[in-house]
Amino acid sequence: MADNSAAGGYAAGCPLARHIKRWDFERRLGYSSGEPSATSSRRQPILLDDMNQISPELAKKLTLAVEKMPAFPKSVQKILELTRNMDCEPKHLVQVIEKDPVMTVKILRVLNSAYYNLPSKITSVNHSVVFLGFNTIKNLVLGIASVGVLPKHNDAGFDIQQYLLHSLTTAGIAKLLAAKLAGADPMDCYIAGLLHDFGKVVFAQFMPDEFSRALQKSRNENISLHVAERQVIGVDHTVVGSMLAEKWQFSPVLVDCIRNHHSREGGGGGMWASVYAANQISKVMAFGDSGNPCIEALPQAVSNSFGGDIDAIIVSLGDMSKIVEEAQAFSHAGDDA
Ligand SMILES: [Fe+2]
Ligand SMILES: [Fe+2]
Repeated sequence: MADNSAAGGYAAGCPLARHIKRWDFERRLGYSSGEPSATSSRRQPILLDDMNQISPELAKKLTLAVEKMPAFPKSVQKILELTRNMDCEPKHLVQVIEKDPVMTVKILRVLNSAYYNLPSKITSVNHSVVFLGFNTIKNLVLGIASVGVLPKHNDAGFDIQQYLLHSLTTAGIAKLLAAKLAGADPMDCYIAGLLHDFGKVVFAQFMPDEFSRALQKSRNENISLHVAERQVIGVDHTVVGSMLAEKWQFSPVLVDCIRNHHSREGGGGGMWASVYAANQISKVMAFGDSGNPCIEALPQAVSNSFGGDIDAIIVSLGDMSKIVEEAQAFSHAGDDA
């Protein structure tokens, strides 16, 4: 498991609930010193790669919004710590999950849903690890926890259920696409797809007026939502989403994927290619709605990865009804147990 300390700027073992330091946020956005500085407020607005400027005031506002997002449940924090250790044994994972009855019920509910179509009912976490493997259960826990921290309501008019369907289907498609690539872990790509637009949830919850205006602008002018966000808010959901993923101590490759999921370059990794394509395919197929009316053409590197344009990739994926069924099964995992 990758060590988050290198790219995230956190000491190893730092608790999930620890607040993101403002200096770290500024460093990620473009300040180069990498050190806390009392002179931050005297700096000029920083320049993002898309030429949008962000003021220190906006940086502070975004940092506060990310800080207000809930931490993952303690059991999930413990699982993240455990799975960073390559020697972690499945029985230790089972012990941690079993101490969280709510998580246990949610896992069993998803695994026993029609989607998995298992030959017999799974009644214990130990049984689930034997059946589906350590990595699948670990990612299932992270996915359930991600859905669990979604706010039920927001004042921006952002439809969380439609967002969830978009995210879950993007996740399912990213998993299928990753299986076609060497060096991309399908379950890691599933989690990246699930979380790629989480920054919109932060905007909807803590900057509802601005986000509502961005949603309207995107719709009225038929421009991509991330472009409208930059114009209205000054920064887009990839930035705030990657900050949140960092707060939650996800791996650096996942944080970077969230940050770059609208970038035409994106570093060229398999996770980026899978999530970029899956995001567009989910929109083409009208699986849910994440507030962005525009479908972007695939970058050449993404088309090259999968050997064709978006239509050819969709044909290669075949029947995607299973992905929608899985999304529906998973979306109920967030219901109160
Ligand atoms: Fe996005
Ligand atoms: Fe998306």
